[in-house]
Amino acid sequence: METRRDYLKKMGLGALALNIAPVYSYANESIACLKPADARKIYLNANENPYGPSPLARKAMVESVTKSNRYGWSQKPELIAAVAAYNKVSAENIMLGSGSTEILNLVLQYAAQQKGNIVTADNTFNFWMSPAKTLGLEKINVPLTANKENDLTALKSAITAETKLVYLCNPNNPTGTLCKREELIALVQEVSKNTLVLLDEAYIDLTDQESLSSLVSKNQNLIIAKTFSKLFGLAGARIGYAVAHGNTIKKLSSLQSWTNGAISVVSTAGALASLKDVNFIEKTFLLNVEARAYTIKEFEKLNIRCIPSNTNFIYFSLANYTGQFFEQLKKHNIVGTRIYEKEGKWSRITVGKLEDMKVLINALS
Ligand SMILES: Cc1ncc(COP(=O)(O)O)c(C=O)c1O
Repeated sequence: METRRDYLKKMGLGALALNIAPVYSYANESIACLKPADARKIYLNANENPYGPSPLARKAMVESVTKSNRYGWSQKPELIAAVAAYNKVSAENIMLGSGSTEILNLVLQYAAQQKGNIVTADNTFNFWMSPAKTLGLEKINVPLTANKENDLTALKSAITAETKLVYLCNPNNPTGTLCKREELIALVQEVSKNTLVLLDEAYIDLTDQESLSSLVSKNQNLIIAKTFSKLFGLAGARIGYAVAHGNTIKKLSSLQSWTNGAISVVSTAGALASLKDVNFIEKTFLLNVEARAYTIKEFEKLNIRCIPSNTNFIYFSLANYTGQFFEQLKKHNIVGTRIYEKEGKWSRITVGKLEDMKVLINALS
């Protein structure tokens, strides 16, 4: 089965994938902030890629601006084909959305056609579920394990005859934990016999674990949501996609007034170019690994207990930290998140550039 590294090798940059040495030119490159007043801030809140968009994506997006007077009819098949190739599936298995949030939302609408419930973990990425109640879906929350991992056995047990959707985030946000692939496959295969499974793989490309995309050709009840917002550095460009069986894609598409239409000409150009920018992909991956390892090591020295992370963010407990965490962040213009779990004072921080993480550690020391 193909992994991110196999993809890179196929694209001709296999050596980079095995060698951390030649990667640092992006680390100090400045990326514009949306508002000039925010330029002093360090954003460690939304799990964005601090290095992106990639150089090839930036060039392609600038060049495509002058084509924005046209609808992007002819561009979309090219992006769908490229996304399909990246995921080793066929074009019929892909549907584009304005960020994966649009995909998650469409799946919610699809599942809500018959009223019932959603089974999901607690904590997980759940802001997109806010329309669930209005759509007639009750939410059943299943606690994570003590190690902050998805509890697959408990999730399975929570399913009832009324369950219309099981949502699983792997790696999980906010905890950064990864399911064991074989266990996840077993769960998906069993649960999807009766229920729709939505697998959120927003961060899978930042791990060495293979996506479950190869399962969709034989499974009409599995929908995988993926995004260009994280590894590819295009959060503001709003491009995500669903990987699913062809019949399922058709059903989901019937909920979109204009199938694949929510993505602008500029964003489409950026996504296409970023898939080709294997140099950037690998650099981002490796720089994240380095800055994450540094942060965890320094957090532990400060008595901030960390859950081992497989992503570009870290879940940590402030229970034994004696400083004023949030006050220090504010003082040093660092944007963090919040307390997710009062018990244990669990919070999350995005892994930014190494230099940003050094500012963070200095602020907290
Ligand atoms: C787990 C998860 N899924 C989906 C998303 C939505 O990403 P986007 O709509 O930018 O593709 C996010 C964003 O942070 C996320 O953390």
